[in-house]
Amino acid sequence: MSLRAKLLYPLLLIGLLIGIYLYAIWVPRTLANDEAAHFRAVDQHLDSVVEAMIPLLLGSQLDIVHENLNALKAKNPAWVDIRLVNAEGKQLYPLASSAKQSGQLTSPGVRTLEKKIRYLDTDLGTLVARVDLAPSLANTRQEIRELSLTLLGVMAALMVTIIATTEITVGRPLRQLAKASVRLARMDFDTPLPKAGPDEVGKLVSSFASMRNELQNYNSSLLHEIAERKDAEEALRQLNETLEQRVSDEVAANREKDHMLIQQSRLAAMGEMVHNIAHQWRQPLNSLGLIISNIQDDFKFKAITEETLARDVSDARRLIEKMSTTIDDFRDFFRPDREKSSFDVAEAVREAVFIVMAALKNNSIEIAVDVPPDLTATGFPSQYAQAVLNLLVNAKEAILESETANGQIRVALRKEGKEAVLTVDDNGGGIAQDILPRLFDPYFTTKDQGSGIGLYMVKMIIERNMEGKIGAANIENGARFTLSIPLEKAS
Ligand SMILES: Nc1ncnc2c1ncn2[C@@H]1O[C@H](COP(=O)(O)OP(=O)(O)OP(=O)(O)O)[C@@H](O)[C@H]1O
Ligand SMILES: [Mg+2]
Repeated sequence: MSLRAKLLYPLLLIGLLIGIYLYAIWVPRTLANDEAAHFRAVDQHLDSVVEAMIPLLLGSQLDIVHENLNALKAKNPAWVDIRLVNAEGKQLYPLASSAKQSGQLTSPGVRTLEKKIRYLDTDLGTLVARVDLAPSLANTRQEIRELSLTLLGVMAALMVTIIATTEITVGRPLRQLAKASVRLARMDFDTPLPKAGPDEVGKLVSSFASMRNELQNYNSSLLHEIAERKDAEEALRQLNETLEQRVSDEVAANREKDHMLIQQSRLAAMGEMVHNIAHQWRQPLNSLGLIISNIQDDFKFKAITEETLARDVSDARRLIEKMSTTIDDFRDFFRPDREKSSFDVAEAVREAVFIVMAALKNNSIEIAVDVPPDLTATGFPSQYAQAVLNLLVNAKEAILESETANGQIRVALRKEGKEAVLTVDDNGGGIAQDILPRLFDPYFTTKDQGSGIGLYMVKMIIERNMEGKIGAANIENGARFTLSIPLEKAS
């Protein structure tokens, strides 16, 4: 049921009850009271007529009685019938009845009054009057009609006012709100809202408006989030599409980088080699210089003979041969491995030791090498030797840097299960705890002239190229590096 109907029905019911009360109770009672008042007035009037008639009847002045009663009738048209009967029952007035009178007598408003006319104890007759009260009640009925119409008008105006006010202040705003909420359910946030007044409906409108605002904000943040997620999904999808390509590009780039690093370290090692060759050659070059000076002196003092010349030339040749062998030794060491091959691990270790030997001697660093033969591994022998060389160079540098008086390096190789395990120990003071985790990072160095690729490259060679493992730890007074590589199946 609509709000309008809800208001209208009780108002109609109240109107109906008021109507029923008026027409069933108030109107009949008012009419009855009015009729009674008129009846009393007529009764009193008749009493005075009877009183005035007594002397006339006592004097038998019937014509005056007739005149008086005619005048009375003429003056009071409501008195539709007057009859005078004497004590014996003979009608004294009127002498004849008229048709008009008899018609009026049947009217429902007609009342009959009967008055005995007495003088002392003498009965003079009876006066019967019929009075039509209808005309005098007509005024009251007219007043009631007017009152009813006024009441009806007031009721109607009241109803219209109430309904119109309710419609304007409640019905219309509520309908607009309902429409806005239906639209809101379809995510339409722009439906116009009624003006928010200070009353309850106004409060409802403003709380609806703030709820709608919040919903709109929430909705737009949701939409934003969805859009962001879609973008992320799209980006992820694209990333996935290109991922394979990027991974292979990255792998190729890494290979290239490793290759360059190995190359760089090879160059560094070659520097070491030149240094070593120079050192190795210093002695034979000195000797060669001496032989050349000898030949020159012998010639000056004419002491040169075929034998002395042959001896000097042969000494010089031996020295040059030794120098040449030194070059071959180093050159073999730096020849790159093309394919994996079986190699003697001890031999590779010894080659690395040979390279640094001169430099170690030069700096009075002792080296103890304990490498048992017959340990064969599969891999790249020259890369392995290069890795060992890096560890040896680091050990030498640690000893020199820590200025340890009796520098010592201990190289030990042993078979452990299916692995050849090499340890390189030094007494160079060890590795600071905070740098241990970064030791194998590329370009990590604590040295002014260091490049920081030495250990990174060792790790690459051992772990990636040879499927082995590298470890670093501190021991008493120094550091220990451990290289484990798998032995060849048969050994
Ligand atoms: N035996 C060792 N004792 C103490 N510290 C060491 C030892 N070996 C390596 N380190 C530390 O590890 C760091 C990294 O060594 P790595 O060989 O990678 O680089 P580097 O020796 O500094 O430079 P380069 O690339 O020229 O070899 C060194 O700077 C040094 O601090
Ligand atoms: Mg190094």
